Formats: sequence, C-alpha cells, structure tokens
Amino acid sequence: MTDLKDSKIIDGNRISSSVIDEIKNQIETTKVTPGLALILVGNNPASEIYVKRKEMKCKELGYHSVTERLPETAEESQVLELIHKFNSSSEIHGILVQLPLPRHINEMKIIEAVDYRKDVDGFHPVNVGRLVIGQKCFIPCTPYGIYEMLKRSSVETSGRNLVVIGRSNIVGKPVANIMLQKEKHADCTVTICHSATANIREHTLKADIIIAAIGKPEFLKADMIKEGAVIIDVGINKVEDSSSPKGYRICGDVDFRACYAKASKITPVPGGVGPMTIAMLMKNTLDSAMKRVYGKNH
Ligand code: GUN
Repeated sequence: MTDLKDSKIIDGNRISSSVIDEIKNQIETTKVTPGLALILVGNNPASEIYVKRKEMKCKELGYHSVTERLPETAEESQVLELIHKFNSSSEIHGILVQLPLPRHINEMKIIEAVDYRKDVDGFHPVNVGRLVIGQKCFIPCTPYGIYEMLKRSSVETSGRNLVVIGRSNIVGKPVANIMLQKEKHADCTVTICHSATANIREHTLKADIIIAAIGKPEFLKADMIKEGAVIIDVGINKVEDSSSPKGYRICGDVDFRACYAKASKITPVPGGVGPMTIAMLMKNTLDSAMKRVYGKNH
C-alpha cells in the first residue's frame, strides 16, 4: 500500500545515505581520520544494538573507533576515568556515552565530564546553551537528523506552526530549539506539548508540522492532525503482536496507517528518523576532527 518511493514518505534510509555519501567525499578530499570513542555501561539490549550499529558505521567510513564496555555494576568513577582518558587522547575527536546509564550513576555528572569540544552527542551544557542562543555547537544527533530530513524534503518551515510532543533532553527540547532559530530552514512558531499538557489535540490540530517523541505506541491519531500536516515520528516501540512470528512488532508514536491518508508527508518506522541519528553522529564526529586538524569545520 505504501512503498518507500511514494512521494508522501520521507525516506530516512535514502536521506541518511546522501549524508553518508557527503561524509565519504569529504574524507576522500581531506584525508582526515575521525576518531570516535563509545562507552557502554551494562547490558541494555537496545543500547547494545545501537552501539554495534555505530561501530559498524565507523568501520564502513574508515573512522578510528574504540568501544569500552563496562558491567552494570561499574562505579561512576570508572566511567569518569574512561572519559578523562578519551578527553586527552589526540586520536579521539568524539566521545559518546550510551544512555540510559544504570541508576546508580549520575547521568549529568557523566555528561558534564565529557570535553564539550568532543561532545558529539550535543548533551553538554555548553553545547545546549549555545544551541539555545543560536551559536555554532554540536547539535544532538536525532534532532539534527530531523532538521536535515525536513530541509532535504523541501518542507516549508518559516512561519509554520510546529508542535513537538515530548520534552526530553535528547529529542523534544533540542528539536524545539533548532526549529525556533531565525534561519531559513527553521523559523517555526514552536509549541511543546508534554505529559501535563491539558489538551494535546487542541494544539496538534493547528500544527503544520508535528514531531512525535513521547515513546507511546501509535499515540498520534488521524483525528489529532489537520489535512496536509507533515508528520515526523521519532518513536521506536515494541508492541505485542500475536500475528507476527516474533510475537511483537515495532511501531512509532504515530498511528501510521490512519495519519498517512491525511498527511502531506510522513516518516515511516522503521526507515524514518532512526537511520538519520547515526548519520548525524558521523557528521558531528567528522566536523570535530576537521576542527581539530584544520581549526575549522569545512
Ligand atoms: N540513547 C538514546 N539516544 C541516544 C543518543 O542520541 N545518544 C546517546 N549517547 N544515548 C542515547
């Protein structure tokens, strides 16, 4: 019914491939070898998969990559020690500590320990602050990917009503700040809805663009969107499905089938925002390496 060549579909696999091709070209001409350090604490199965994918992408692009795995019981000081080692390594241009961390580790303390110049996740308060005031900084990978998807799909954003559902530090808040900037491919009127919002539908019905990032399976229904809206689905949810051989299926935060009919453009799950995150991580790491080698990003 919906194939990915369909013009309504914003195809994250295709767009992330063009970002990756641009990275390959830049590496070919500049001969830099970006270095990425990955730190994984514990055995969260989703985190294991994400880290493996990041390692594989580094290999494909010829990046220098190092992964440090620590057990669930590791102490905060052990994680800090690894971060300090990578902060002072000249071969490492990007440091990523996979989240979530075990509960006994203070996430903010870990994020703040990463040298903000190697913070390719864009989570350090220096980068968060710079993003808010429109200065050059590392932009968190998933929000950066969403921005690139909208830009490369020629979605008009200036002056449009954009509703973000979800206020996480990883997606909701940064994507709202990106799309608020006075810039050609942003410049939106931004509303953030969250768990305490009285009537989310009242807001989403006015939205030209909706970014759903709340982690609730198929939360956004067709009767919550207006005709012609652009829908970006950040959710990756595992739901029980007895008709599937695995007993489960993966769905987003958007009721895709129903919203597809009304939307002018929509991202699928999988194959939407997901592949963009890794591509933008690779881009941030390359930019960091370029800055270190040439003192500039391009
Ligand atoms: N966990 C889920 N998303 C992310 C991300 O973008 N970066 C890190 N470090 N951990 C995550």
